[in-house]
Amino acid sequence: MKVTISIFILLFVAHNIQAEDGHELWLRGKSTGSVNVVCSKSSPTINIAKLELQQCWRGETGASVILTIKQDKLIKSDGFKLSTEGIQANTDLGILYGVYELLRRQQIEETVKMEIVNPSYELRLLNHWDNLNGSIERGYAGYSIFWRKGKDAFDVTEKDKVLWKEYARANASIGINGAVLDNVNASPLMLTVEYLERVKAIAEVLRPYGIKTYLSVKFSSPSLIGRLKTSDPSDPKVIEWWNSKVKEIYKIIPDFGGFLIKANSEGQPGPQDFGRTHADGANMLADALKPFGGIVMWRAFVYKTSDEDRAKQAYSEFMPLDGQFRDNVIIQVKNGPIDFQPREPFSPLFGAMKKTSVMPELQITQEYLGHSIHLVFLASMWEEFLKSDTYQEGEGSTVARCTDGSIFSQTHTAIAGVSNIGLDTNWCGHHFAQANWYAFGRLAWNNKLNSEQIANEWIRLTFYNKLEENNGSITFSDDWLENFLAPIKKMMLESREAAVNYMMPLGLHHIFAANEHYGPGPWWAPKGMRKDWTPPYYHQASKDGIGFDRTSSGSNAVSQYHEPLKSQYSDPKTCPDELLLWFHHLPWNFQMKDERSLWDEMCYRYDEGLQQVRKFQKLWDQVQSYVDSERFIHVQNKLSEQSVNAQVWKDACILYFQQFSEMPIPYYIEPTVNSLEDIIEADKKRLGR
Ligand code: GCU
Repeated sequence: MKVTISIFILLFVAHNIQAEDGHELWLRGKSTGSVNVVCSKSSPTINIAKLELQQCWRGETGASVILTIKQDKLIKSDGFKLSTEGIQANTDLGILYGVYELLRRQQIEETVKMEIVNPSYELRLLNHWDNLNGSIERGYAGYSIFWRKGKDAFDVTEKDKVLWKEYARANASIGINGAVLDNVNASPLMLTVEYLERVKAIAEVLRPYGIKTYLSVKFSSPSLIGRLKTSDPSDPKVIEWWNSKVKEIYKIIPDFGGFLIKANSEGQPGPQDFGRTHADGANMLADALKPFGGIVMWRAFVYKTSDEDRAKQAYSEFMPLDGQFRDNVIIQVKNGPIDFQPREPFSPLFGAMKKTSVMPELQITQEYLGHSIHLVFLASMWEEFLKSDTYQEGEGSTVARCTDGSIFSQTHTAIAGVSNIGLDTNWCGHHFAQANWYAFGRLAWNNKLNSEQIANEWIRLTFYNKLEENNGSITFSDDWLENFLAPIKKMMLESREAAVNYMMPLGLHHIFAANEHYGPGPWWAPKGMRKDWTPPYYHQASKDGIGFDRTSSGSNAVSQYHEPLKSQYSDPKTCPDELLLWFHHLPWNFQMKDERSLWDEMCYRYDEGLQQVRKFQKLWDQVQSYVDSERFIHVQNKLSEQSVNAQVWKDACILYFQQFSEMPIPYYIEPTVNSLEDIIEADKKRLGR
């Protein structure tokens, strides 16, 4: 009987929910009736807005929507005024963003009332770490959608154009308005004419959707492709070379956005190679771009092999330069002081650089968070970051307010996310990784949104069952809301903390095996390797304890934070547990707030992370009837891989650190199942060392 019922359910499910490959992202909603669009203007952007309304209308059949372009001081840049009658904006793009907002609200059943909606940041950019040969640095969703190697590298095919258009549409629908098309570890060839012509072709497709193109450039391009003897930013010939290169670019791409630069970082060339400062280098490029309205995004991701704590170096290098940058330079700062770890405190540069435009850089691609294998919803992490209080201008000086112009009158406000997009059919490698692309766009548009709202929207848009539409009903059923939306949302919101738990709880960071940044490797320290590229540098485990002492008795990184944070972080009793081992080296028997010893707490958290993933697996299995089989199986397989990996993380870390703590694994957690030797051996084999 049971079997018959199961088969019946399976057949019913398979029959009624069409398989989906995820390519449509959150843009699956088609119209359920006609709409009368009233708009006197026509332009490529306005025409897209009209078409979107017609193709995706979910309002009352036969209703009219009036699109008006009329100046209004309360509407800022790309913003718009939404009302039950229609949309008003200052620009064509404002209308397009308004249309996407209206359609989203219809689809998720959110009311439309009179409201002015302005973006938090002027520039909302994706950074593609795409190499010109088509590979993607830290990309886990296939090859680049922009570049490829081979004979047809420069052919612009219909297929390319269709994909770029879909990409542009998806971005515009969440408010993203710029894309840096190539890797920050840039090739000098990017600035050669063949590649610039391809940028032109991409820009033509992206333009009507309001997406500007930007390029990462190599600082030594003048000597590498310009045949100059130097790339010294104060050399007149170098200045001239950049000036004429920029002129050439604008001739080809008239609305080009500007440059992104990784300089004097991880082997990339920069002004310091010639005894100049970051400001000298950035300003030289800014001057070349200024006449055309272009900007320079200069990255603060810098650290050297030195005795100074890596977490302190960006601040030490950039703070003395505050006030020296041109007004079309923005300093692009990663959210944390080290490198996109599962949890870091915010970088102390936020709010501290008061006379310079500063923009956050987030990482959408899950380099350190399980690649496109683990289900980790990053909005929770970004919300935590944006809401962090820097106290730089008194209480409430959150990172969001320090960067969006609310506190400092920055000439430009911007935010960037390192893209997780590739040629995979579902764009991101994991269906749930699409939520991170979506979340980045939504937060760039509105940095006050919370992760729950974003998850709520995304689930409705991405998993709403098309069958119900066909029946003419667009109402989410109570059953769907209770048994699908609610548990899936809960899972997404817990997922980042779960990853922190099974990878790096209590402020541990950067304890990955090797450079692939996937599995655990707290032991990983090959001979001759730079110390700050090896986990023992970060966890500092020894018989006497674990953690990086960043108080005044250690590296004193706490001094880079404003009071009261400096004092709060300095004292293990007031330091948040989440950051404890980031700031402190503590004995294994240190008593935690919940009275467990530090060792027990660590073990508990590692186990907790694994249990959380197992819970996600069960939960996903329970919602099978609400999801098409293609996406269901895909996610189910990914969760099972995540669970195996979480077990490895837990076992590896507990067993490795136990060698130092010499304390028993607490009885109330599940015992480890792998042996440390086996894990290390398997890693060695896999990594070929
Ligand atoms: C990390 C990442 C590199 C990347 C670098 C950067 O270190 O592992 O692949 O190039 O960040 O942001 O520049």
